[in-house]
Amino acid sequence: MSDTSFVPPRVTLPGLISKKQRGEKITMLTAYDYPSALILDRSEVDIVLIGDSLAMVMLGHENTLSIGMDEMLHHARAVSAASKRALVVGDMPYGSYQNGITQAIQNGMRFVKEAGCAAVKLEGGKQRAGIIAAMVEAEIPVMAHIGMTPQSMHRFGGFRVQGKSADAAIAILEDAFAVQEAGAFAVVLESIPSAVAAEITPRLRIPTIGIGAGKHCDGQVLVWHDILGLIDTRPARFVKRYANLYPEILKAANDFCTDVKEELYPGAEHSYNMPEPDLLAERVEELYGSHSTHPSDEGSFTKSKV
Ligand code: KIV
Repeated sequence: MSDTSFVPPRVTLPGLISKKQRGEKITMLTAYDYPSALILDRSEVDIVLIGDSLAMVMLGHENTLSIGMDEMLHHARAVSAASKRALVVGDMPYGSYQNGITQAIQNGMRFVKEAGCAAVKLEGGKQRAGIIAAMVEAEIPVMAHIGMTPQSMHRFGGFRVQGKSADAAIAILEDAFAVQEAGAFAVVLESIPSAVAAEITPRLRIPTIGIGAGKHCDGQVLVWHDILGLIDTRPARFVKRYANLYPEILKAANDFCTDVKEELYPGAEHSYNMPEPDLLAERVEELYGSHSTHPSDEGSFTKSKV
């Protein structure tokens, strides 16, 4: 059995930069609840992200646009409660920072103060540089997110790979420079050709964390439900499944139903005993009379002394 009492040192922002400098890969996974975050905290994962993907994978929404601050904070608190080692990053939902610096700082601080996050993530490059700089100035560490930013899905016409032409790729490179200069401590590169990530990564001081951006990033991030195969739909091309839990969980639920129907569950080992069951039976019979062993035998329950 592994010792779960030893907690290695907390992952820090400077520690992530050092990892990049040493050429060590950075790992990030999403989590949205306490038990999953507990598992991740005992894994080797560096960063746990409460992604706004929770709108889709936890709440069944069609995209990430509908989730708000209160829902994000509710899940972020649960994740923070479990995380003693990993760096916890809260994802700023659509509409929580695009209105300007004051709104972004107020909501960013809520992730830190109310939900115990060490940092926040927000989407956008050049157009968010001013907001990122102001947040960093207000002591809210920011992870940027560029390339295919899901909160821009309507502008992109869906969740489409970005940066396929040289011009589009250079615009993403400029976004990366802009968020670095604004003070972001890392940048997520989502759904861009690996050649683009390969040009960006060595030109930045801050780590790049890829999702659908190929192997040349400083780190990789995936969604919890995707790596575990918890959802029975075809995953995106960039997803690698490390487990296939959907059929296993379905089987567990059906095995439970079979056991209940066949009276295989609960067994004696799942039931509580009392010291004098015979005495109870005697007393109950005395008070309420005898009963049939068949529940559908109506009227067999004689309430003789009630
Ligand atoms: O919301 C999310 O889960 C994300 C990651 C996939 C980067 O933004």
